[in-house]
Amino acid sequence: MTKFALVLGSNWLLSIAELLTYIQDRGFDGVLVDHSRNAAVIEVRQQLDADQIIDMQSALGGCFKIGRVIWEYDIDIPLKAYPAKKAASKDSLKEINKCPWLKIVWPKVKGKKVRFGISTYPIVDGGFPINFRRFTRGLNDQVKKLLIENGARRADYYAYDEPDRRVRDRLNIALWPKSIARNALLTPPNAEVLAVFSETKLYIARTNVVYDSMLQQYRDESRPFVSAEISTSPKICRTLLNLSGARPGDIVLDPFCGTGTILMEAAILGMRCIGVDIDGDQVQGARSNMKWLEKDLGEKLDYNILIGDSRELSSFVKKQVDAVAFEPILGPIFKKPPKRDEAEETIKELTMLYLQVLKQISKILRPDGRIAMTIPVIRTEKESISIKFSDLTRDTGVSLYKMLPSDLIVSRKDIDARLKIRPGRESIPERKRGQVVQRALIVLEK
Ligand SMILES: C[S@@+](CC[C@H](N)C(=O)[O-])C[C@H]1O[C@@H](n2cnc3c(N)ncnc32)[C@H](O)[C@@H]1O
Repeated sequence: MTKFALVLGSNWLLSIAELLTYIQDRGFDGVLVDHSRNAAVIEVRQQLDADQIIDMQSALGGCFKIGRVIWEYDIDIPLKAYPAKKAASKDSLKEINKCPWLKIVWPKVKGKKVRFGISTYPIVDGGFPINFRRFTRGLNDQVKKLLIENGARRADYYAYDEPDRRVRDRLNIALWPKSIARNALLTPPNAEVLAVFSETKLYIARTNVVYDSMLQQYRDESRPFVSAEISTSPKICRTLLNLSGARPGDIVLDPFCGTGTILMEAAILGMRCIGVDIDGDQVQGARSNMKWLEKDLGEKLDYNILIGDSRELSSFVKKQVDAVAFEPILGPIFKKPPKRDEAEETIKELTMLYLQVLKQISKILRPDGRIAMTIPVIRTEKESISIKFSDLTRDTGVSLYKMLPSDLIVSRKDIDARLKIRPGRESIPERKRGQVVQRALIVLEK
């Protein structure tokens, strides 16, 4: 049994739903044993090799780092060693400072020059009685001292770069994937160590692989066709693909392909893809993106992008597809929350469109195939209005797939309300600050 710690994307619940679907679909015998709003800890029965871990990192849209857990402390130890308000306990500090895991990360350091970094992932951002900044600094200093005592020629640690622009109150105590790459921190004897906190434990993990943010940035900036209003973020595209159960070699359909971001991500993951869009400009743009990707990857990609109305999909897509992933049109852009009637009218029209398209998809989707899609959630002045699932599945031949299966989640009864996972969820919100039309992700199966 091996435990892995995974650093999650900003939508922690969606990241966990994606992770569990991935684990299940790949036949890994694993469960979620612990989590926070920043990280998940999974326990896997079989041995995962380095390639499988790298594949998992590069497939998951909601994962930034994966590390094998090498030590666990009861939470009381860091709580007493680095309390936010009270005086520190000398015994607990001594216990932390022993760092018995050091020998696992650095079995031989004599005469070596070591660069490292500790990245701390608190349980929630704020409101936990540990001084995480002092903890991180203290552990970095201690590791440096012990490495020198163990015979390292030099030991230098990297302490933290820019704050997180998305979550301003997030403490600046973890290294960005790009800093890890830039400083070759994953090349031995260098190492990044993850300190992952949950309500009951502190997990120490050695990072195996991190998200390649530089490659993604290069692709985002270099692809010829992108539209700020239309394009879906590549990370959400990956999450949709994983929720749809698409695997390398599968044929994936995006019936609202727009600029082709889902198609590009699918192709990068080794899938064959079919894209459809009603707008000729989008189709041309998506084709030019795929051509660009072919050149960039230096290989021929298997794709077909068609102009057409997806309400008539089965009349022009004749192939059976294995999985479907898409972000459809989500209705008009509201500058301010609309009245309830207006929102309900929009939802009614979109439900009609989605229903027609789902009926068509059901004709060409393989039995047991899944569809992952986003739906709009419109904020009115008083409440949020969205699609009724029973309306969406009526006579479509598909039914709702429940995410976050309870048999893959080992959860405690007394868990903090901010960390509760309700198993078997039918939708997961994906909110964007300040927008009237929010999104939720749902999965359907044939
Ligand atoms: C939100 S965008 C998709 C964004 C896409 N995932 C991307 O990354 O660029 C929705 C797309 O659906 C297309 N669309 C709208 N109605 C359609 C229909 N009936 N059939 C096919 N495509 C349609 C629009 O032209 C638009 O490009």
